[in-house]
Amino acid sequence: MSEHELTPKPACESYVEMTQLVLPTHTNPLGTAFGGQVMAWIDICAGIAATRHARQIVVTASMDDLHFRAPIYQGEVVILKAQVNRAFRSSMEVGVRVEAENPLTGERRHCSSAYLTFVALDAEGNRLPVPPLLPETEDEKRRYEEAAERRRIRLERRNQERNVVLRPHPPLSSR
Ligand SMILES: CC(C)(COP(=O)(O)OP(=O)(O)OC[C@H]1O[C@@H](n2cnc3c(N)ncnc32)[C@H](O)[C@@H]1OP(=O)(O)O)[C@@H](O)C(=O)NCCC(=O)NCCS
Repeated sequence: MSEHELTPKPACESYVEMTQLVLPTHTNPLGTAFGGQVMAWIDICAGIAATRHARQIVVTASMDDLHFRAPIYQGEVVILKAQVNRAFRSSMEVGVRVEAENPLTGERRHCSSAYLTFVALDAEGNRLPVPPLLPETEDEKRRYEEAAERRRIRLERRNQERNVVLRPHPPLSSR
């Protein structure tokens, strides 16, 4: 990638708004959306935002803890809004906000928020540098600052998990 393409890009250039109608195929026997379905929409929406920023192929590296604050019912409209919060070397943090809208009243409620990390890769799977992010509004500047601490925590957790997986199990006889 040339120096020109690595010039900082405004956060708003990565903005994505995605709208979905909750159909019977998206719901559980209670008539509310499956968590996994909402997660898939979050991943797609965030992935488009990361691609808009990097203009490269990106893969999902991780999704931070996800909490479903309120159920989303069949027949409701789901609005997902995503934007890159910060770009590092080859990775980007994307924030996603999920709202449900009652289509008859227009009333909206906040159902979930998520932070995902995407990594830009070439066709051989090698990491590619991504342009730095230029936060402009007060909210964008706040999210940019907070993203550094979230990155520190998630990489620390990733390393802890790697240690657990790599630590050899003691033989059964010594337990
Ligand atoms: C994501 C992936 C490319 C990272 O590769 P890696 O060799 O483990 O990563 P590295 O330690 O070299 O780090 C590369 C970058 O990814 C970031 N990263 C790696 N793992 C991460 C994680 N779990 N969460 C957040 N960021 C992560 C690093 O901070 C680094 O960012 P930087 O370049 O901006 O500093 C690799 O693990 C992969 O290909 N995973 C599968 C992706 C996939 O298939 N996703 C779809 C879900 S099934």
